[in-house]
Amino acid sequence: MSSVKRCGSSRTRRVPALLVGALVLALTGGPAVAAQQATLHELATTHGKYFGSATDNPELPDADYAATLASEFGQITPGNSMKWDTTEPVQGRFDFTKGDVVTDFAARNGQTVRGHTLVWHSQLPSWVGALPPAQVEAAMTHHVTEEAAHYRGTVTAWDVVNEPFNEDGTFRASPFYTAMGTDYIATALRAAHAADPDAELYLNDYNIEGLGAKSDAMYTLVRELLAEGVPLDGVGMQAHLAVQYGFPYEMRANMQRFADLGLDVAITELDVRVPLPADAAELATQSSYYQRAVQACLAVGRCVGVTVWDYTDKYSWVPGTFPGEGAANLYDENLRPKPVYDAVRAALGGGDGGEGGDPGVLKAQYRSNDARAADNQIKPVLQLVNTGGAAVSLPEVTVRYWFSGDNGGAAYSTWCDWSPLGCSTVTHRVVAADNPRPGADRYLEVGFTGGSLAPGASTGEIQLRLNKTDWSNFDEADDYSHGSGTSFADATKVTVHIGGRLVWGTAP
Ligand code: XIL
Repeated sequence: MSSVKRCGSSRTRRVPALLVGALVLALTGGPAVAAQQATLHELATTHGKYFGSATDNPELPDADYAATLASEFGQITPGNSMKWDTTEPVQGRFDFTKGDVVTDFAARNGQTVRGHTLVWHSQLPSWVGALPPAQVEAAMTHHVTEEAAHYRGTVTAWDVVNEPFNEDGTFRASPFYTAMGTDYIATALRAAHAADPDAELYLNDYNIEGLGAKSDAMYTLVRELLAEGVPLDGVGMQAHLAVQYGFPYEMRANMQRFADLGLDVAITELDVRVPLPADAAELATQSSYYQRAVQACLAVGRCVGVTVWDYTDKYSWVPGTFPGEGAANLYDENLRPKPVYDAVRAALGGGDGGEGGDPGVLKAQYRSNDARAADNQIKPVLQLVNTGGAAVSLPEVTVRYWFSGDNGGAAYSTWCDWSPLGCSTVTHRVVAADNPRPGADRYLEVGFTGGSLAPGASTGEIQLRLNKTDWSNFDEADDYSHGSGTSFADATKVTVHIGGRLVWGTAP
């Protein structure tokens, strides 16, 4: 059964972690060599993953573009040229010349290719929709067979079926669904497997990155397919994200549940678009979304890699599809890397703020504003410092100051007394700890409604205060986050989260 076969080329090609060091050492050896840093793909391979990009025929003649595509990325996906309207525009007349341009480029540059896509409702030539339903299965099987056979040995993974679901998790109407019902998916997978038994076979969709109705539908479908012994190796999550719609809910957990079925997962079309003109806070949010998507893949062993949906704004599909939005990619229109590129490097463990894959980029500092540790108020003063190389979006950040309620009433009042940020952008509340510990049965959670923190910048102090509504006393001396120092110092017992992920401090 193909769900357990490994083709190897798209997975776990472990490059020595010393690679980065080797590149640096090369500088000390011989004649003057330009400083070289590890590429995105080299950084990804230290985690056993690939880092890829979409590309296609229109942009490949651009020499500067092609040079970066070849050097920075270890995997490519044709954006359009393997779709049905290109490869079989007239029934029975196949044309693979454009797709071959992409596989030839990959072969010359030692890259793997994800094939995209065999069966999809879109970019489908009109003759397919005009067929009598009784002829659709034969036409689909023929198409899948011819194309998968043509690319046998050059395409390592196929998006066999693309976008089978509606947003609510029902099956999307298409000529295939109309003719065969849900069986078309198993039929397409079996045909692809027969034509190329070595290719990894995927189902691919958008808005299945997080937990929700649509990803639940994909989960139910793939479990059924596996139970029936249908050849299926992975689920592709497109990840066309937008800063105004939030980050997918529990992306890592969602990827892990597919992995737990014995499937690979991949982020197949990552981009993060921004309403234009983009402001600094939106760009910081964009960086954090790219980082969180990459981190989710790094955290899931069976996530094989990340593909961006072309690497530069110069050739992005976004402005043409979402009017008024853009700036979605890692490089600008002049092919220069943007700050979001550095953010992705950091998430992969190669940036200023990253070490060993931990892109911890914020630290908390604390001072006590409270000479009396045994009265009825707690008065921590906190500030955050950005120690990374990219801006951090403050609405993504939460800070926890851990303390004990000391057996008083359970209701609290919290206050921001002063901050150069403006207390109106600071949120605060008391939360009961999931795992209460002595000195840490609660925490003061501090958040932000807006703003971003540039590399090296500090929020400045945030003067906080809390009391029980019954005004009973605290004994702060044993509180986990409490200290008596009255000038700011790094505080590892105050924890900081970005997007729900711990980036600073040790939780009690
Ligand atoms: C897009 C291409 O990038 C565009 O050039 C084309 O005009 C439309 O399709 N989901 C997919 C991709 O699976 O095939 C789409 O690619 C983007 C959304």
